[in-house]
Parts: sequence; structure tokens; C-alpha cells
Amino acid sequence: MKSPIVGQFPAFRPRRLRQSPALRRMVAETRLSVSQLVLPLFVRSGRKLRQPIASMPGVCQLSPDELVKEATTAWEAGVPAVLLFGIPDVKDARASQAYAKQGIVQQAVRLLKRELPELLVITDVCLCEYMEHGHCGLVQRDARGVRILNDPSLKLLARSAASHAEAGADLVAPSDMMDGRVRAIREELDREGFEEMPIMSYAAKFASAYYGPFRDAAESAPKFGDRRSYQMDGANAEEALREVALDIQEGADIVMVKPALAYLDILYRVKSEFGYPTAAYNVSAEYSMIKAAAAKGWVDERAITLETLLSLRRAGADIIITYSALAAARWLAGK
Ligand code: PBG
Ligand code: ZN
Repeated sequence: MKSPIVGQFPAFRPRRLRQSPALRRMVAETRLSVSQLVLPLFVRSGRKLRQPIASMPGVCQLSPDELVKEATTAWEAGVPAVLLFGIPDVKDARASQAYAKQGIVQQAVRLLKRELPELLVITDVCLCEYMEHGHCGLVQRDARGVRILNDPSLKLLARSAASHAEAGADLVAPSDMMDGRVRAIREELDREGFEEMPIMSYAAKFASAYYGPFRDAAESAPKFGDRRSYQMDGANAEEALREVALDIQEGADIVMVKPALAYLDILYRVKSEFGYPTAAYNVSAEYSMIKAAAAKGWVDERAITLETLLSLRRAGADIIITYSALAAARWLAGK
């Protein structure tokens, strides 16, 4: 942040240090470190399964055994955390597999914590992957049309979070955007004896075309309608700050801005207003667009990815969730 006395001094121009990379690195204002990266992973039942996602080159749906392999590779490259999304065998109207004791995410968490106890296992808490209609909450259809039922969804979200905690997750991340869900989750976690479980809330989550490839990966595209009644309007920055304030009041420990690139102003403002641990989700299409252009030889994938991730750090992100986490870990290590 710029201090008021800054204008009284001659400008310090690190460009002049160009001849000395070591010195340039020493005075760099922003650093990108592997210790801040989170790798999202998609898990589904099966064995030896690596089902590629066409719209996300390099990303696969993984069976639990392959998930452990992938997480081990990431961990060994220095990536400290994964974010789990589950693709259940059956979907229904109450998202039962989201909070089933033997649900795919619950199984995956137990396995990961057994094989890689120090890996930070974060779980996405939402209902869309588990609902036959693909919405993030319970749906009511009647003569007036389709409505998402906010309050009745809270109980299911809270149960999901508690079941992840029970399985051994380190951090739960509600992404549904129902009102009041952080409080509902906090209360349920406390009731169940998980008072120390932190919550990372997708606090400012915008309705976005940048989620397209993810919905292929998680098989969670809504079958009708869209998510505009619960996700935010890209026109609104003040509203985003209010959403973040509410989530903090309700007990969020870390707040997230999503997507990242088209919302860097929001990220900057959230970090500077609240000073809270802040995460940025470099979402699926942000990843896929780089992959597509790189495949055509139009951009330098390594340089453009690291530049992108650095921009999120500069804008205020402490934590960066990115499908490029493993590649970035290697690049940052000079490999
Ligand atoms: C679902 C969820 C979405 C993402 C994370 N959790 C998509 C959505 O709201 O449709 C998007 C992640 C990405 O695009 O990489 N609640
Ligand atoms: Zn959802």
C-alpha cells in the first residue's frame, strides 16, 4: 500500500536492477510461492480411473486410488493443499450423497488423510453436484415456475460440512451462496464437536460464464434456469463487499473471491477493507483459455500462468486456488 510520504522521495526504479536478478528478487514487492497454492481435484467412484475433461486439458475426474496418486505428486512438488469436488454415482432431489457417510468425498477425505496426513484437505461444500437438477439448493417447481429454497437448503449444507469434518477434512469451503449458510455451518460444526474446524466461504461468488468447463468436470450444469438468483451480479462491487461482511459476521475464517481475473478489483477491495485471510479462485475457464491459446502456440503457457497468478497475489490474495497448481509448483522450483 502506498504511504502518504511516497511523493516526497525520488522514485525507486527497480528496472535499473535488471542486471541483477538476485537483487531484483530481493526487492520484489509481491511474491508468488507454492505455499499459497491449492489444487482442485475431482473424485468419483471406481479404480484406476482417469477420465479426462475435454474442456480442461490436463484435468481428470479421478477414482480414489488415482486421487491419492495425484495428491501425492502435488504434495511432493510442494503444493500444500487440495480442494475436493465429488461426482456421486446417484443424484437425487435432496442431494443425499452430499452428506452420506460413505459419500465419495467423505471416502476420499479419509483416504487422503490416511495416506498424506499433512496435506491440507479442503472440501467444497455444495449441493449442485449431488442434485438431479444441478442447482446449489433445494428446488421447488410449481405453477409460478422454479424457485430455489434458501432456508431449507441450509440444513443440508450444514450436514454436508459436518460429514466432511467427521471424515477428517481440515477446512470446509461452502460455495453454494445461500444466505445464512456460514452461520448454519458454524453452528452445526460446533454442535458436532468441530469447534476448531475453519470455514473458507466463497463470499463474493459471481454468476459467471467462466465456470463453464468446471460444470463439465463436476457434471453439475443446472438442467433448467441459471444460478443468478443466488450468485452475484457482475455489475455489483458494493454488494460483494456486503456479502463478505455478512460472511465474516456469520463466522467465516477465510473469504474468497471468485472468479479471479475479471474481479481483481473486488479482490483488492476485499483484502484492503477487511484485512481478512483472502482466497482467489482462478476458475476453470481462466485455466482453459490459457491452455487453448498455449496449444495453438499463441501464448507462452509458463510465463502467462505465472504472470496471472502473480497478479492475484498483487491484488491481495493470500490463497490461490488454481488448476495450474502442480505446473506452477514445478515452474517456481525452476523445473
Ligand atoms: C459449485 C461450484 C462452481 C465452481 C466451484 N464450485 C460452479 C458453479 O457455481 O457453477 C466453479 C469452479 C470453476 O469454474 O473452476 N457450487
Ligand atoms: Zn453449487
